[in-house]
Amino acid sequence: MAQPVSEHLLGLIRPEVRAQRPYLVPGARKVPVKLNQNESPFDLPSDLKKELLDTFFQIHFNRYPDEQPGRLIAALEERSGVQSGSVIVGNGSNELTYTLGMCFIHPGDRVVIPRPMFALFESMIKLHGGVPVGVAPRSDLQFDVDGMIQAIETHQPKLVILATPNNPTGLAMPTKDILRIVKASKGFVVIDEAYHEFNSEPSAIELLKEYPNVLVLRTLSKAYGLAGLRLGYMIARPEIIAEIMKSRLPFMIDRLAEQVGLLLLRHYSVVDEGVRSMQKSTLDLTQSLSDMPGVEVVPSQTNFLLFKTRFEPGDLLDKLANEGTLVRNMSGYPELEGYLRVTSGTDEENKAFLVALDGILKS
Ligand SMILES: Cc1ncc(COP(=O)(O)O)c(C=O)c1O
Repeated sequence: MAQPVSEHLLGLIRPEVRAQRPYLVPGARKVPVKLNQNESPFDLPSDLKKELLDTFFQIHFNRYPDEQPGRLIAALEERSGVQSGSVIVGNGSNELTYTLGMCFIHPGDRVVIPRPMFALFESMIKLHGGVPVGVAPRSDLQFDVDGMIQAIETHQPKLVILATPNNPTGLAMPTKDILRIVKASKGFVVIDEAYHEFNSEPSAIELLKEYPNVLVLRTLSKAYGLAGLRLGYMIARPEIIAEIMKSRLPFMIDRLAEQVGLLLLRHYSVVDEGVRSMQKSTLDLTQSLSDMPGVEVVPSQTNFLLFKTRFEPGDLLDKLANEGTLVRNMSGYPELEGYLRVTSGTDEENKAFLVALDGILKS
C-alpha cells in the first residue's frame, strides 16, 4: 500500500496555489457540433498541411528549438508594424498571462480588471498573491469605463488588464475609452486582443508609440485557427520587452508550431478569408437567434455570442448536448446569470444548433 500524502507535505504548497481550482473546460463530451470554446471552425487547409509535410521531414526532433523563435518573432513584428524587439511569443497567450504575473505582481498588489472577464486573468492574479479589483459592467454588459477610471484613481494599480473585444460578453471597448484608461493609469495597461481580427476598432498597438505603458496580448488560436498548436504573442516597447524577456523560459515554442505560424503569416489571405467567413456566420447566427421568440441575444464583435432563454442554462446546455451541440454555460459569472455562450461555427454547425434549440424551445 502506498504511503498516504500527509497534510504537512500538502501544506508546503503555496496557499495561493492550493486555493485555486484546476482549469477545466466543462462538458468535454464528444459531440458532433462543438461550439463551446470560441475556436475557429476551419482547420488549416489541406494544401498548406501538405506544404508542411516537407518541413516536417526536415525538422530535427532531437534538437532543441531556438531559445526564442526569432523568425516567427520577426514575422509577427512585420505583420504588426512594430519595430524589432517589440514581440515575445508564448505557448499560447495564456502562457504569457502567467509571465505578466511573474513580472508585475507582488503579494497584495491590486490589479484592476473589468467584470465579467476571461477567468484565467483572475486566477493568475490570485496565484501570484495579487488582489483583483473587479469593475462591474453597465446594465447592458458594456464596460463601465468611468467605473474603471475611478478604480484606477483609487487603487493606483501597477496593472490594469482588459480584453477587447471581451470574452465572455463579446463586446468591444471603443479606442477613445481605451485611451482614457491608458491616460488615467500610471501603471501598465494590458489589452488582450484575442478577438481583435473580428472587430472593426483599430488595434491598441497604435497607442504604443505615444503611450509606453501599453502592453498588447494576441493569440493565433482564434482568427488563425491554431488553438491546437499553442501560439500567442505580447507586444510592447522594446525596453519593456527586454526586461520581460529575462523572465522567459527558453524553448517554449517548439519547431513545428513556429513553422506553422510562419506558414500562415506567409499565406495571410487564408486568415483573412476565415475571419470574413466567421464574421458573416456570427452575424447570421445573431440574426437567427434574435428572430427566435423567447431568445435574448447580446450582439457581439467576436466569433461567439451570449444568449438567454426561459430555460435554466444548465438544463438547456444538457438538452442541446443530447441533441449533439455543445455550448458553454456562463451563469457562473454573477453578471451573466441565465446566459449561455455559443461559438459561431460553420453554416451547417450553426444550423444544427439552431434546429436543436428551436426544437427544445418549442417542447
Ligand atoms: C480573452 C482571451 N484571451 C486569451 C485566450 C486564450 O488564448 P490562447 O489560446 O492563445 O492561450 C482566450 C481563449 O478563449 C480568450 O478568450
